[in-house]
Amino acid sequence: MTLGCAPTAPLRANDPHQPTAWSGRGTIFGEAGPGLVLTRLVAGWPGVGCYDHDMLFRTPPKRSFQVIARSLNIVCDAASMARRAARGYATVGRFAAYGSNFNFDPDGIYSYSTISVGDDVNLGSRPTMLATRSTIRIGNNVVFGPSVTVRGGNHRFDIVGVPISAVTDEMKRFEDDLGVVIEDDVWVGGNATILHGVTIGRGSVIGGNAVVVKSIPPYSIAVGNPARVVRERFSAAQVIEHERALYPGKRA
Ligand SMILES: CC(C)(COP(=O)(O)OP(=O)(O)OC[C@H]1O[C@@H](n2cnc3c(N)ncnc32)[C@H](O)[C@@H]1OP(=O)(O)O)[C@@H](O)C(=O)NCCC(=O)NCCS
Repeated sequence: MTLGCAPTAPLRANDPHQPTAWSGRGTIFGEAGPGLVLTRLVAGWPGVGCYDHDMLFRTPPKRSFQVIARSLNIVCDAASMARRAARGYATVGRFAAYGSNFNFDPDGIYSYSTISVGDDVNLGSRPTMLATRSTIRIGNNVVFGPSVTVRGGNHRFDIVGVPISAVTDEMKRFEDDLGVVIEDDVWVGGNATILHGVTIGRGSVIGGNAVVVKSIPPYSIAVGNPARVVRERFSAAQVIEHERALYPGKRA
């Protein structure tokens, strides 16, 4: 049996032996049909749930089975939503602080107690935000794309005779965990990584897949690995106008 994430044979258009559109990613039932799948599920077959070429859906099932499958899918989706909602309610209080209109993916990875978040923040889907000995501070009006990574520190790797994996928290120095600050009105593109010691200045945009290793000045657009500022978001006059609108009563 082959397990993998891509078919070994190229997909051909109009090929009756290829997965049909309704089967989505096309990995549900093998030629032996759902009976074998159920047997494998019960037996704990390791390939179930992966892209398993023995398990490719090859012929459309009977209409009646499609109806059952769709109903089952609705039930599973509802159960999944309920689980996520429960997890969200159960974990939101573990953040150090959070403001109004805080949106976070309950299935993301967070070091909750070291993360504080302002108002109107959306952390996107599946972020990884970890700071064990420092903090991740996020302002107001911040939006993340999917799968953003924020790292509050580094492993220590400079002690001769000690493998990195054996370095304990007690052996770390202040400069190994500097934390991250993301100021107000920032958009972080999908898959971006923000490393410790970085402050993303107010009003900035971080491009998708960027790796931010140094602080980014306010109202900058920064892209790439390592992230570099490619231009300003606004002219100076626009920044003043923008700040007057967003922060009335405060001097620009
Ligand atoms: C950063 C971003 C907003 C800039 O958009 P833009 O103003 O339209 O920028 P442009 O397309 O004009 O690109 C400007 C330059 O930066 C480069 N660039 C843009 N985005 C880049 C990125 N993510 N990584 C590397 N280079 C990038 C372009 O190639 C271009 O280079 P050039 O001047 O040498 O041709 C956008 O490219 C981006 O990364 N968006 C994130 C999208 C995302 O993650 N969405 C998730 C949903 S929230």
